[in-house]
Amino acid sequence: MLKNKNIILGITGSIAAYKAAMLIRLLVTNGANVKVIVTPLAKEFITPVTLATLSKNTVLCDFFHHDDGTWNSHVELGLWADLMLIAPATANTIAKMANGICDNLLLTSYLSVRCPVMIAPAMDFDMFKHPATQKNIETLKSFGNIIIEPTEGELASGLHGKGRMKEPADILKDVVSFFDSKKKLINKTILVTAGPTYEKIDPVRFIGNHSSGKMGYNIAECLAENGAKVELISGPVSMNINHENIHLTKVTSAEEMYNVSISHFQNCDIAIMSAAVADFTPKTQVDSKIKNKTENLVLELIPTKDIALELGKMKKKNQLLIGFALETDNELENAKKKITSKNLDFIVLNSLKDTGAGFKHDTNKITIIDKNNNIEKFELKTKREVASDIVNKIIKLIT
Ligand code: CTP
Repeated sequence: MLKNKNIILGITGSIAAYKAAMLIRLLVTNGANVKVIVTPLAKEFITPVTLATLSKNTVLCDFFHHDDGTWNSHVELGLWADLMLIAPATANTIAKMANGICDNLLLTSYLSVRCPVMIAPAMDFDMFKHPATQKNIETLKSFGNIIIEPTEGELASGLHGKGRMKEPADILKDVVSFFDSKKKLINKTILVTAGPTYEKIDPVRFIGNHSSGKMGYNIAECLAENGAKVELISGPVSMNINHENIHLTKVTSAEEMYNVSISHFQNCDIAIMSAAVADFTPKTQVDSKIKNKTENLVLELIPTKDIALELGKMKKKNQLLIGFALETDNELENAKKKITSKNLDFIVLNSLKDTGAGFKHDTNKITIIDKNNNIEKFELKTKREVASDIVNKIIKLIT
């Protein structure tokens, strides 16, 4: 649910800090990467060893490491995070946040983050209802921060009232629904083809290509994280994928990939053709192994069906079709021709001439060309980042 989400968990000096241990566990088991920042006082309530073990990351507290002269960069942390969650947040920390005071690492990080901030107050009833605290909370809301309202119940002081930090399981629900609300592809069904195809010669031999499937699998994952239901149709690759929104069908040949793609397309809103489909297949595929002989072997190859071309013909007005072009020469020109011939909405071009682009690499360098001839060039990036650029282009087109 929170796969690949980077969360800074800020913990302050409240008795509710013990609940932060469970909260970290829930965030981590749901796939989030968690980095914990504690205020100096929080360490009186919960040990950094517990927090580091559960979060699988060093717990940050001080600005400097006095032993080796290095420092914890709150700016880097701020850029890393998709969400900053402060739970529990004391009246003191809330007051400092509302006033821009930054005398500890948690507070400097709060001022530096560019991501949304969620705050789960925890304090005594009278402190919570005090006009000063209420005013500070209103100020934080006016900054766009999200307040996870405390609940009513027995407080550590023995008093009864509003001020208890929400239970970790409920905070998790709030975090998940927060990320869900940002998902732009909810209710979309998207077909993705990925990987190579293997064209059988005999039971032990095939014609294949070097596609690893990484690009398509990364796209599928990125789409799923944005709420889409993904039909991933993959040729033979060693990768696997595990996401509740992704339905994976493994195929071997171009013919099989064609049949599965055609059968799903009418129920899809978008199709992304990232597979490196074989263009030719042996005319005859023999069932017994071809024996070693002295004379030459001639294989007759016939063209396979072009999946993208066929989907382009079937495409309705409300559907989008996205293709890939892996080129070695006249890249732009060839890619543009494919937009027209296959009726694509945009094409993702990568050139084998670019170092780090194309098959096998963990990186790719792409140019997106759309049917209106808008051209966007991207830097060399990880395939995961490239997937995100492609998905953002789709989101832009549909919203
Ligand atoms: N494609 C497809 N089915 C095929 C061949 C290609 O769906 N049988 C798709 C690819 O997944 C890609 C796009 O068509 O999205 C372009 O593929 P590419 O191999 O670059 O182009 P081809 O049309 O095969 O042309 P050529 O190999 O001559 O460059």
